[in-house]
Amino acid sequence: MPATASPPALRSLRVSRLPVGIPRRSVAVRCKVASFAPTILTKLQKECATPLPVLRHVADAMAADMRAGLAADGGSDLQMILSFVDSLPTGNEKGLFYALDLGGTNFRVLRVQLGGKDERVIASEFEQVSIPEELMFGTSEELFDFIASGLAKFAEKEGGKYHLPHGRKREIGFTFSFPVRQTSIDSGILIKWTKGFAVSGTAGKDVVACLNEGMERQGLDMRVSALVNDTVGTLAGARYWDDDVMVAVILGTGTNACYVECADAIPKLQSHNSSSGRTIINTEWGAFSTGIPLTQFDRDMDAESINPGEQIFEKTISGMYLGEIVRRVLLKMAEASDLFGESNLEKLSTQFVLRTPHVCAMQQDNSEELEAVEAILQDVAGVKSDLNARKIVLEVCDTIAKRGGRLAGAGIVGILQKMDEDTQGQIYGKRTVVAMDGGLYENYPQYRRYLKDAVTELLGSEISKNIIIEHTKDGSGIGAALLAASNSKYEHDF
Ligand code: BGC
Repeated sequence: MPATASPPALRSLRVSRLPVGIPRRSVAVRCKVASFAPTILTKLQKECATPLPVLRHVADAMAADMRAGLAADGGSDLQMILSFVDSLPTGNEKGLFYALDLGGTNFRVLRVQLGGKDERVIASEFEQVSIPEELMFGTSEELFDFIASGLAKFAEKEGGKYHLPHGRKREIGFTFSFPVRQTSIDSGILIKWTKGFAVSGTAGKDVVACLNEGMERQGLDMRVSALVNDTVGTLAGARYWDDDVMVAVILGTGTNACYVECADAIPKLQSHNSSSGRTIINTEWGAFSTGIPLTQFDRDMDAESINPGEQIFEKTISGMYLGEIVRRVLLKMAEASDLFGESNLEKLSTQFVLRTPHVCAMQQDNSEELEAVEAILQDVAGVKSDLNARKIVLEVCDTIAKRGGRLAGAGIVGILQKMDEDTQGQIYGKRTVVAMDGGLYENYPQYRRYLKDAVTELLGSEISKNIIIEHTKDGSGIGAALLAASNSKYEHDF
């Protein structure tokens, strides 16, 4: 029987486990320590609550911060980066193109043979390689050598349906999913790493030049025709199939959104002239912070992160962090009460040991005894639990997922609201598609539902019928290849 199977017990507190605010003399008396876990839970639920007024405030602040970021560089938390993508895929694109996608724990290489309006995607294939952890903390050369060698191996296997016209270099759409100050469609300076990357020697450099140097060292002769953020790749990939796509959002390890903006709504746009009158703006909304309900757990996690004070929205809503927030809450509960009995808390004290997929898997457990929850707590966090404890754990998971999903929904409405205000109802008054990608959205049904509920609550049922949130799996790879095609250095044969 689990050590905590007994009902809320009376036992002495150990001094080292004294919760804040409990007078030291209480050590001598016996108190109902088990009740601390529900108390912490109630406080957590209160602090993480996102009722409609909070959502509304977040959506309004998102719209206001977008405007401030468009007015001037550094005008708000949102960088509102010009993507230099002024025209989206039309369907006419033809030829062989590659895409390289670096953005999380994996990098992905892809090739696609495009056949124009009639044949569309004739063939496509990809490979995914996980990035060894040490490379995330290594040097720029090591990382780009690794990527270039993966690309070289993949390119060697080309054959079958893939054809490159004589005399042409293979062209790549490079999806680089970190904040980059774009200097042209095929160059951009890394502003900072996010999502746990801390590679030395890349910040402040042109990432395309870094890749080119890596390819040169590998003896690989390919050319980057488009450098894009994953949100921009997703927007392009989704637009290839659906003209109503106006916004793209990534909810995965990290988070971000981009959207189609009118060039004359960008005061900071000076030298760059858009031929179409429109351009895609990469908001870098992960850095947003206004009005987000935060707890001490969030603040502690932020303070101990490799980028304190940065990416607050991302740290509240994205896959890299939800599990870690839950772990911190559970640890606090375990320290303040007998939630996990006499379990050794060493494993649970390890940062990032509980990942968002574990939290999600626990929430899918419909068994009466919550056996999957029990197994994850035991195997991943090293703690024993009784049914009561498992129920509390699930409440914690739900609280954190709910806040994340609802805030993500409010962020999306903030973007739509800004677009709608500028276009006199062109967004809310017709079908508008938000293309979504990322493992968090794809794999976490409760999170997805919370997000959609928040969008409906904010927009009302009539308008929300026009707003379609659509999952476009792997759109960013194909999207980057499509943007390589439309920005090809060779004469277009379409
Ligand atoms: C990066 C964005 C990226 C997002 C999703 C964030 O950490 O700053 O550039 O789009 O993650 O991958």
